[in-house]
Amino acid sequence: MKVKIEDRIEEMKAVWMEEERNEVKMIDQRYLPSELKFFTAEDHDDIYRSIKEMMVRGAPAIGVTAAYGMAQAKVQENDMEEAAEHIKSARPTAYDLFYAVDYMMDDLEEPVKAAEGYSEKVIEKCRKIGAHGAGLIESRDNVLTHCNAGALATVDYGTALAPMRIAHRKGKEIHVYVDETRPRLQGARLTAWELYNEDIPHSVIVDNASGHYMSRGEVDLVIVGTDRIVANGDIANKIGTYEKAVLAKENDIPFYVAAPVTTYDGTTEKGEDIPIENRDDDEVKEINGSLIMPEGSPVKNPAFDVTPVEYISGYITEKGVFGPEELKDMF
Ligand code: MRU
Repeated sequence: MKVKIEDRIEEMKAVWMEEERNEVKMIDQRYLPSELKFFTAEDHDDIYRSIKEMMVRGAPAIGVTAAYGMAQAKVQENDMEEAAEHIKSARPTAYDLFYAVDYMMDDLEEPVKAAEGYSEKVIEKCRKIGAHGAGLIESRDNVLTHCNAGALATVDYGTALAPMRIAHRKGKEIHVYVDETRPRLQGARLTAWELYNEDIPHSVIVDNASGHYMSRGEVDLVIVGTDRIVANGDIANKIGTYEKAVLAKENDIPFYVAAPVTTYDGTTEKGEDIPIENRDDDEVKEINGSLIMPEGSPVKNPAFDVTPVEYISGYITEKGVFGPEELKDMF
């Protein structure tokens, strides 16, 4: 991804490994967009913390971080069963985390090479998702997205953002509505930062403004990422995604889910069986450390919701764009 730093532009990945020092490096996403800081994970405890505390987040990027963490643990001659269990326990919803750890357990002969290969494959899949998804976007389309499913969430390109990146690079004049995505504001902080860095026209809107723009015919399609696609086609994604899908259907707007096939969990039958992470009350109670409600008011803070298959127009994958009825064959 391109990052504007003062008067220059640098190419950067969200997470990478420095093999000589056996360190896993990542952009610490908690500080964006005001500061570009990096975190170095030196062992699997750091990897666990980086995922749990959301220094790195987004399903595919969590998977790559876990893969690097497993390689690092193997080089350090750790007990690999213990490292695997620890890393897997960092967050419950994103399927890529479990997929990546199991993938590494199967290939521990040359662990760093395997983790690098895993990361390269994720990037390549996202590039293909971008190429397939860009075909759905016409010049002068307004596209709405929720949360951050960009390069920060996938190492490079993104899933939901990849089609927008490629459409823009091909010269299509697009405009992106970016939901701010309370409570952690991944849309306002991260998606807007990525679009700004690549000069892709966009507007950040508050979460409850999307229906307004959809009802006025100002949204042509919605593209979101996902943390898990299950056997019947339901998906889990950032809290608020379900509302966008219902509004899209009500307003006859296509609603697409972009993901690599590693996000597919064929062992879980339907959306209601997906474990939904509940996060700290303070994410809701505070903004930038300031209390925004009575201290004693109870809150609830689910990080994800489930969008049923009947609201989904199609899945944009590295293998192409598929309707819900083709899901099983595709995966
Ligand atoms: O809690 P987060 O920020 O990890 O949630 C991220 C999302 O919901 C993304 O849309 C999803 O992981 C897909 S990322 C390509």
